[in-house]
Amino acid sequence: MSVQELSQFSPLQSLDEWEDDLLRRYPEPGTIAKEKSVEAFRNYEAPARDSVREFYKLNHQYQTFDFVMQKREEFLSFDRKVMTVWEAFDFLNQLVDDSDPDTDLSQFQHLLQTSEAVRADGHPDWMVLAGLMHDMGKVLCLFGEPQWAVVGDTFPVGCAYSDKIVYHEFFKNNPDFENEKYNTKFGIYAPNCGLRNVHMSWGHDEYIYAMMKDYLPEPALYMLRYHSFYAQHREGAYDHLMDEHDHKMFAWVRLFNSYDLYSKSPTPPDWNKLQPYYEELVNKYLPKTLRF
Ligand SMILES: [Fe+2]
Ligand SMILES: [Fe+2]
Repeated sequence: MSVQELSQFSPLQSLDEWEDDLLRRYPEPGTIAKEKSVEAFRNYEAPARDSVREFYKLNHQYQTFDFVMQKREEFLSFDRKVMTVWEAFDFLNQLVDDSDPDTDLSQFQHLLQTSEAVRADGHPDWMVLAGLMHDMGKVLCLFGEPQWAVVGDTFPVGCAYSDKIVYHEFFKNNPDFENEKYNTKFGIYAPNCGLRNVHMSWGHDEYIYAMMKDYLPEPALYMLRYHSFYAQHREGAYDHLMDEHDHKMFAWVRLFNSYDLYSKSPTPPDWNKLQPYYEELVNKYLPKTLRF
């Protein structure tokens, strides 16, 4: 593949561009009027950069039901690598932002800022651990997976794509959009069957959920699995697939989302001070090594 072709498949200069766009879409309620100038508010309102648009074009075109099945098969056997949690963070940090290495925090620093913000508010320690681990699935990029199969908003496959999903118009390029098996409101699912019976588009959320599912309590697993499912936790687009239990658990997902999106700060946390606490936390819940 030529360099030009490759860059067509990696429109984002860094994975952070997707998250910056989330902040434009969902600026923190309450702080805009109080702390941010009108000018800053306008910046949030600015249309997403072309790179984000190009990124969603690929994501929406290629995330089909069959693609999800194929990726589950390929990655959920976890036979690529065995690492301790700390080795895994070093590995993840190889994902560097080539657009502006001076101003962007490493992946680990984002995770630590998220977990520290959760901890500062006195939430249970397993939620702190969910904060620490939630983006670990981005290692998929280091296994050669394209950006559109690692990050981006997630959504159910096997049923109609909601028009509340960002850049919904690009789903017309997805073969499932024309497939009668998959393009009705419920598709292959029964009404209110519960999200545990629904297949989500493939990415870093499902991968880390599957890796952690034997170790963390259920609310933490919901946070990991659905943290990029903005069409539901922000827009309520898939109530028709959720059951009562999902609705209860989504209170946790929404709570978690505010720490994920709004904990970013230019000051990196002081890891030397925090290390003993996190070593104990990791030892409490996780095995010595994790399989990737
Ligand atoms: Fe994430
Ligand atoms: Fe995150």
